[in-house]
Amino acid sequence: MFEYFKYIFITVLSTFFIHIGIVVYDAIHHPVAVGQFVHPDIGLDIETLVKRNGYPFEKHHVTTEDGYILELHRIRHGLNKKNLTNRPPILIVHGILESSMAWLSAGVDKALPYYLAEQGYDVWLSNCRGNAYSRKHIKLNPDVDKKEFFDYSWHEIGVYDHPATIDYVIKKTGKSKIFYAGHSQGSVSFMVMMSERPEYNKKIKAMLALAPVVFVDHVKSPTFYIPALFQNAFEWIVEYFGLYELLPKSEIITQIANKLCNDESRLQKLCSTLLNINGGFNGDKFNSTLWPVVFSHIPAGSATKQYMHYTRNIFNDFRKFDYGEAKNLLVYGNKIPPLYDLSKVAAPVGIFYGNNDWLTPEKDVQKLIRSLPNVVMVHKVADENFAHFDFLVSLHAVDILYDKLVNLMQQYK
Ligand SMILES: *[C@@H]1O[C@H](CO)[C@@H](O)[C@H](O)[C@H]1NC(C)=O
Ligand SMILES: *[C@@H]1O[C@H](CO)[C@@H](O)[C@H](O)[C@H]1NC(C)=O
Repeated sequence: MFEYFKYIFITVLSTFFIHIGIVVYDAIHHPVAVGQFVHPDIGLDIETLVKRNGYPFEKHHVTTEDGYILELHRIRHGLNKKNLTNRPPILIVHGILESSMAWLSAGVDKALPYYLAEQGYDVWLSNCRGNAYSRKHIKLNPDVDKKEFFDYSWHEIGVYDHPATIDYVIKKTGKSKIFYAGHSQGSVSFMVMMSERPEYNKKIKAMLALAPVVFVDHVKSPTFYIPALFQNAFEWIVEYFGLYELLPKSEIITQIANKLCNDESRLQKLCSTLLNINGGFNGDKFNSTLWPVVFSHIPAGSATKQYMHYTRNIFNDFRKFDYGEAKNLLVYGNKIPPLYDLSKVAAPVGIFYGNNDWLTPEKDVQKLIRSLPNVVMVHKVADENFAHFDFLVSLHAVDILYDKLVNLMQQYK
């Protein structure tokens, strides 16, 4: 009996992999030109996409103290041109492996930046060091000096990238304070910034923490806790093969996504599974037609060390990067890395989380709420299946989440 099932299992599994193999082979050997993809948004650069939707688009560059050149994208106003003269600026920060583009995949009537622009905000989308738009440095070449260029985690993003960006936005807009919204790692790096450079608290009107993965003790996502369980093997592989850059943006992924994730593909489910295995399964709250668009922007590249900073913190509190006892002694003067001091996050913080988010389970969110001194709002999204990536792409986010963000900001205008 067992034998019988074994053969059925092997047959099904090999059919599955052969099928994937054929699609991937086809995608690589018959690449599609921009404009010929199954969806017109696939592979578009952000400027073309935003302008095609009728919105104004600006590109800005900021250089950090340690030499990284970051690209910022700005949508200055909405189609309705409300409040043209007095628009509060908001800086929106993406998560690991994402970019400014991740916020726009959901389409013109569903995406957060367009929604905020229509509500009267001056929208600035950040790109953290090392992603597809910010893969530049005044001295280092990311392709040649990989090890040095990608030697950072979300610690450096919080300590260097955000302060430089906030100062730039303040200078350009002439305002003394701005709003900040961060998804996932974009919330974590905010906490790092305020704990390390608390003078930046006074430059923030209010911070919106969307799915903040600050404490990761109860993370359910296997892509996080499995490497955490096999930390040494994982780090050995990274060093041995020199994998300092994690999943950079690639034309091949766009081509494969075009074939694999479209509505006609029998393997479309695999695409949603690839994302949801990280952040939780939300049923079908996403417009499946847009999967190939999403995967033409994600992954957009990160440093592997960002990911390692998370996996080292699993079961281990919110600490600075753990180099191992010997190097910790040199760097921190202590065998164990110090904790970030969340009591220094004085800016008003609103926390927004989903019930089915595998990366921010309720227990971890509660611990964050207890640790922060100035939480002004806690909102659990009113959908029991709301998961990690729904903050970016849910069909209902405008109704059940984005209007709540605006409500909070109205109080701090
Ligand atoms: C835009 O102006 C309207 C009317 O004056 C006001 O109610 C709204 O709060 C303003 N929005 C922003 C973001 O300032
Ligand atoms: C899903 O996306 C497609 C393509 O952008 C669009 O035509 C369709 O109206 C969307 N469906 C829903 C339910 O929003």
